[in-house]
Amino acid sequence: MSNLLEIRELNITLVENQRPIVKNVSFNVGKGRILGIIGESGSGKTLTSKAIMRLLNEKIFTVKGQVEFRGNNLLQMSEREIEGVMGKDISMIMQNPMTAFDPMMKIGKQIIETVKAHLPLSKKQAYDMGVQQLKKMNLNRVSEIMNSYPHTLSGGMLQRIMIAIALLLEPRIIIADEATTALDVSTQSIILDEFKKIQDKGISLIVVTHDFGVIAKVANDVIVMKDGEIIEDGTVHEIFYNPKTEYTKELLKARLLADEVSYA
Ligand SMILES: Nc1ncnc2c1ncn2[C@@H]1O[C@H](COP(=O)(O)OP(=O)(O)OP(=O)(O)O)[C@@H](O)[C@H]1O
Ligand SMILES: [Mg+2]
Repeated sequence: MSNLLEIRELNITLVENQRPIVKNVSFNVGKGRILGIIGESGSGKTLTSKAIMRLLNEKIFTVKGQVEFRGNNLLQMSEREIEGVMGKDISMIMQNPMTAFDPMMKIGKQIIETVKAHLPLSKKQAYDMGVQQLKKMNLNRVSEIMNSYPHTLSGGMLQRIMIAIALLLEPRIIIADEATTALDVSTQSIILDEFKKIQDKGISLIVVTHDFGVIAKVANDVIVMKDGEIIEDGTVHEIFYNPKTEYTKELLKARLLADEVSYA
């Protein structure tokens, strides 16, 4: 299996007091694989994801290590080089959908602008693609949504719109940070199916969650984080049937539905 992304010795410390938050984190994401990152609140999942995306504010966090993507260390790239990669090759679905949209711009316009910035399409083509993708997210009255400002829509709707945009761009890898947590069970299931469909196109995903149910449904590989460290990793099968740490066993006990296990 070839790796699309290789994270080596990622360390994140607070500038203010040098406190280590993410410690010596190393993992790989295989091409066309879905990696689940699981761990309790505060374990460093979001900071790890944002560090990969170069989204952490340098005034607050010091990031060290390597994020190898197609022969380049993303952590060493210039702002300009990074702009060429983010969105097009790597995109992230944020944990907080409210902050991801421009409050002054209608959803349709935001979708068109994002799609056109990355793909050579006309306005009409981008609009039509947006409509099609929103429908796949179990959203109704899609043309009304396209004509709405973000603040008039619910958090769950914005979440699905954000997922739709990430899927539309068909990057090489998508990082989904608690993307389905706020959604009802049936919508969550539809979105997770969309993740698997995008995987069938050879696209890799990192699915960040605190829910082993989500891991069971979509992931091939898993890393378990606790207090900023990886304490266990393996295939979904290994983690579910042969967990090595008490922490993983506890997490599994909290949410294990054996019949949901998908074999990697
Ligand atoms: N701006 C900040 N300043 C100081 N500490 C921070 C800041 N942002 C995050 N942290 C600390 O970093 C740690 C990891 O945070 P992170 O957001 O990565 O956790 P998480 O695993 O994503 O949690 P959750 O499941 O709640 O989303 C937390 O303990 C938090 O206290
Ligand atoms: Mg988080």
